[in-house]
Amino acid sequence: MCWKPPEYAMTRQFLTVNPDVRLPIVGFGTYLIPDEQAAAAVSAAFAAGYRHIDTAEMYQNESGVGAAIRASGLSRGELFVTTKLWPGNPAWGMPAKTYDDTLASLDESLRRLGLDAVDLYLIHAPLAAEERLDQWRALVELQRLGKARAIGVSNYSSAHIDEMQAAGLPLPAVNQVELHPWSQKPQLVGYLRERRIQPIAYSSLVPLSSWRTAEGHDSAKTDQMRTDGGHEDSPFVRMAVKYGVSEAQILLRWAIQKGYAVLPKSTNPDRIRQNVDLFSFELDADDMSAIETMDRGDGVAWAVGDPTKAE
Ligand code: A2P
Repeated sequence: MCWKPPEYAMTRQFLTVNPDVRLPIVGFGTYLIPDEQAAAAVSAAFAAGYRHIDTAEMYQNESGVGAAIRASGLSRGELFVTTKLWPGNPAWGMPAKTYDDTLASLDESLRRLGLDAVDLYLIHAPLAAEERLDQWRALVELQRLGKARAIGVSNYSSAHIDEMQAAGLPLPAVNQVELHPWSQKPQLVGYLRERRIQPIAYSSLVPLSSWRTAEGHDSAKTDQMRTDGGHEDSPFVRMAVKYGVSEAQILLRWAIQKGYAVLPKSTNPDRIRQNVDLFSFELDADDMSAIETMDRGDGVAWAVGDPTKAE
């Protein structure tokens, strides 16, 4: 039988981030997909029904993403494309980007993507302490110029956002953060909710034994965590059996029920299809409460430690 995109592709489920910007809840993450593989992976995602693609200057795959967009035949209005400013990081010997550098960076990203505007432009992380307010001022200008329909941040803590508020600047529409049962960040999520800043979850699949096992896919996941996620008694395995889905679908569904958008990345076509098929089951209140107790604190996706902790 010919495989068809799941119901999601037909119904489209969105979150509203600005009055006129609707964010498709399931996006396709592209971190660690090399540029030469990005076109094939993103094309597989389009075929599976994804219409929201998340990339970044730092991922060095915007050209491949752009090639898939052009090959897709999809109209611009059907697509939602996010990219991110790499802010620089003086602590790593990377000069912090200035206001003007930031304006130029989006132009470069747009050139690589082959687009006139992105749907969402984010500051990738709060790593440029001295310049991050100016970077944000530049994003505000880019939105005014129509080069970014919505603007936001990624890996920001409440203190980083307080800094923006204290400077009298508009608040971000979204904050893209590592969020999964082992890193639930309840204080930050509560803070975002109070300010109507939409959380977008990345690295939802950290608890899986299959998460970032490929050569060179670094993280701060400990051996203990690898063992905890990898046995047949894992609570996610039990829930997967109960609902007749995969562990990955349990983790992604949890995030959606928390009200987050998700960005599963995969280069495997079966997993790409599975990860967008999240709307035919619902975790019950007992399972949601059981997951609530599993928080272990900081995220592990960055080998250098959770970037929300940056000064
Ligand atoms: P793969 O690309 O081989 O499928 P990230 O945090 O960067 O989004 O990482 C996603 C990780 O989870 C990757 O290592 C990916 O590997 C793996 N993965 C993605 N989808 C699934 C799935 N449905 N089942 C198991 N592992 C998955």
